[in-house]
Amino acid sequence: MHPARRSQALCLLVALLLSAVVRAGAAEPPTLSIDIHQVKGKVSPMLYGLMTEEINYSYDGGLYAELLRNRAFQDNRRSQPFHWFVYESGNSDASMTMDTSTGPSRALPLSLALTIRSATTAEPAGISNEGFWGIPVRPHTVYQGSFYAKAADPSIGPIAVRLIDNDTARVLASTTVPTLGSDWKQYSFTLHSGLSPPSANNRLVLSAGRPGKLWFSLVSLFPPTYHDRANGNRIDLMEMLAALHPAFLRFPGGNYLEGNHIDERFLWEKTIGSLVDRPTHPSPWNYLSSDGLGLLEFLEWCEDLKMEPVLGVYAGYSLRQEYVQPGKDLEPFIAEALDEIEYVTGSTSTPWGAERARDGHAAPFHLTYVEIGNEDNHDGSGTYDGRFAQFYKAIKAKYPDLQLIATTPVKSVSPDVIDDHFYHSASQFFDDVDHYDKTDRQGPKIFVGEWATREGSPTPNFNAALGDAAWMTGMERNSDIILMSCYAPLFVNVNPGGMQWESDLIGYDTLDSYGSPSYYAQVMFSNHVGDQILDARLEGTALRFFYSVTRDSRDGKLYLKMVNATASPRPLTIRLNGVSQVNKNGQIISLSASTTQATNTILDPTRIVPKESTITNAATQFSHTLPPYSIQVMELEAR
Ligand code: AHR
Repeated sequence: MHPARRSQALCLLVALLLSAVVRAGAAEPPTLSIDIHQVKGKVSPMLYGLMTEEINYSYDGGLYAELLRNRAFQDNRRSQPFHWFVYESGNSDASMTMDTSTGPSRALPLSLALTIRSATTAEPAGISNEGFWGIPVRPHTVYQGSFYAKAADPSIGPIAVRLIDNDTARVLASTTVPTLGSDWKQYSFTLHSGLSPPSANNRLVLSAGRPGKLWFSLVSLFPPTYHDRANGNRIDLMEMLAALHPAFLRFPGGNYLEGNHIDERFLWEKTIGSLVDRPTHPSPWNYLSSDGLGLLEFLEWCEDLKMEPVLGVYAGYSLRQEYVQPGKDLEPFIAEALDEIEYVTGSTSTPWGAERARDGHAAPFHLTYVEIGNEDNHDGSGTYDGRFAQFYKAIKAKYPDLQLIATTPVKSVSPDVIDDHFYHSASQFFDDVDHYDKTDRQGPKIFVGEWATREGSPTPNFNAALGDAAWMTGMERNSDIILMSCYAPLFVNVNPGGMQWESDLIGYDTLDSYGSPSYYAQVMFSNHVGDQILDARLEGTALRFFYSVTRDSRDGKLYLKMVNATASPRPLTIRLNGVSQVNKNGQIISLSASTTQATNTILDPTRIVPKESTITNAATQFSHTLPPYSIQVMELEAR
């Protein structure tokens, strides 16, 4: 082409491109059009709840406030128990070993034997426990402790109990247990800390000032707990859960329900009663569970946060492809589940209801949902259909009002609810937000019993929060059929070696805790739900923009959830159809970040938190712009 022509053509092309750019720039923003009187369905009042299991040191070393690790010496039965050490001072001399010939109960048939060859009151000898990555000591705090012990000869004298700073050897709290007898007995003590600042690098020391031999078992130490419950939960973590206003708690798992092997399942009967009667058990997440947080503690946790229990019962399948054939072999497992339901719901005139009363809770718990198994789609034997049907018939025969949840579709009976699990990347969730839009409304209800955007470690980053928020808009829009949903896993201890599963909602160490951006996205969603799903649609296009609109019929408030998962601002027109009055002042809660990788950490716990602001231009039609990478809840009053 002639050079003049070429330059003319080039100019034309540039002009065309420019005008396209200008046109695009001037293009009307898309409209979020909301019909406030077009109620598409009812929002399930149980939409947002919690899922939990012993993983990532969620209970031991996490929510369950016990401060001592391997308190019953069941973690290993080798001569030197994990997490325990000989304590010697000055010229004192002692050694310890596991003794499998004596223990305080049938459930705990072993103990730690301590031989003190030389010690004085000034230079005592004993044992120490390092806690879960240290023992937290806070100023002016009262710690309740106890241990089972016996002495070969009571002349061993008093036992000193002290919390000691590992670095400085400073004693942060101390007391004495006056004397030990020669038979197993439980001794209790109280420790009061002084003025020193909060610290974690501490240990508990039990020591004596004279030579002799003594045995210890079930050594326990608790800080103050949520609602002051004995054997209770860590306060900061319970407060974080309370802020989610969860409607239910799905427990005890997850894989933790199933165990690697059948005899490692969550055998509820062994998790109730006095702690000395709980034998502990291996969890599938490679550590032993103390079972201090057992069936009754799960139920009391529900009570404390006003949640409904969603009880998972073991259904005859364990993770290493061990399964029980439906039929006669399954009957004992069905009896186990029926007894468990009776323990939860039975009056005190039933055997298990009476047992619950003896354990300290006479009032039965309200129970509507029972889940039969967990992720039985992984059972290669194909027996779930038969196993589920057998459980279903037996449970419905005795408890016709219970709603039964299947963990994967079955054919032989029709479950009340199906549990679906989703572990996705953010982009998978963006692409799948309409997952339930076309689901048959006549079939079983849906329980999204585990879901999470798995981006970020140990806790999710902002991209994950965007994926989660997008997915939640889809769940809300379909919450006529999605009865319940819960993120998993809930907790992670961020200390080295604490995590078995990446991307967990709430992180903590020995002293502190923090919420991930995903946690805050859930706080925003679950606190602004309403009870009606409104018809809303986007007119025009908007890349990676997600929304749901709900309304509270009691006070007329409108909740717009909007997610902009792009790096650019998202201008919008919001149109409210069928309204005569709109309060021009609206509230906005916004969670945003400058990059998708931005996140909160234990050292930077509040980098991304919701911020509240107001708008003053709300009307039947008004403009609004979402910032880049943002999740917003807009609250409006319109009639
Ligand atoms: O949430 C972690 C695990 O993921 C659960 O234990 C299991 O149900 C799922 O596979």
